[in-house]
Order: sequence, then structure tokens, then C-alpha cells
Amino acid sequence: MAESNMQSVAQELPVETGVERKDRRKLSEMLTQIVASTHVLYGKVRGVHWNVVGPSFYSLHKMTEEQYEDLHSANDDMAERIRAIGFNAPTGLSTMIKNSIITDETELLSTEEMIRELVEDHEKMAKLLREGVNEADSVDDPTTADMLTARIGVHEEAAWMLRATLA
Ligand SMILES: [Fe+2]
Repeated sequence: MAESNMQSVAQELPVETGVERKDRRKLSEMLTQIVASTHVLYGKVRGVHWNVVGPSFYSLHKMTEEQYEDLHSANDDMAERIRAIGFNAPTGLSTMIKNSIITDETELLSTEEMIRELVEDHEKMAKLLREGVNEADSVDDPTTADMLTARIGVHEEAAWMLRATLA
């Protein structure tokens, strides 16, 4: 897992909801990685939305819009979950990139290459979220586990829909 480099701005106040502090910290690090990765993926999906060309332009342009809007709202909930369990949410683009398992793409690729990369990214996200669910379950935090479980299916579906456009 990438090291978190977050500065402590918000003072940590006691959280007594039945999950040990060391477990909440570990979970917050996992969530930071998920939030950072989702943020980087959000930016990538926007890049595809803007730059897609070819016969599937309209469907891919619309599909990517739905996908980045979903990533945006889901990430808000997951970042706020970090706060609810007592730690700071990541802030700043470089922090996101540093903690992300999704590689930032600055090169303009062909539409097919961009879609293939997004399929792989969604698959990576599904795997990461599975790890997150296991971690949340292991520290008895069903709220976080449920939140992350719902996201696995969304990424699997996004990967399928994007992959289907390549056929
Ligand atoms: Fe747009």
C-alpha cells in the first residue's frame, strides 16, 4: 500500500463506535488508496469523454459521462467515510496521484487504447475494493464493507460496458 503523506489539519477527536483506533487507522489508509485511485480514474474517464472519436463517439461520450459522474459522487461518500471513522480525507491532486493504484495518463492515446486502459483500470479498482471489503470485515466495520461492496459491482459493470464497445 502507498504511504499516506497527509498532513494533519483536522484535529483527531475520539471516535467510540466499537472499532479500535489502530483498526480505524488501517482502514482509513485503505480508504485513502481507494479514494485517491477513484479520483485519478475520474480524471482519466473525463479525458476519454472529451477526446473520444470514431463511430462509437456518441455512445462512448455519453457512457463516460455517466461513469465519471458516478465516480465523483461515490468518491464523495468514501472520502467522508474516512472522516466519519476519525481520520483526514486526502487532499490535493499530487496526494491523489501518490496514493493511487491507477496510473495517471497524460499522453493522448487512440480511442481503442483509452478504452482498453479504462477496462483494466476498472478491473484493478474491483480488486482493490475487494481487499477493502475484506479489511473492513476483518475489523467489524459493516458500514464501510457495505459501501465498498456496492462499488465492486459498479466497476465490474463499467468494465463490461467498455469492453463490449471494443468487440
Ligand atoms: Fe461533457
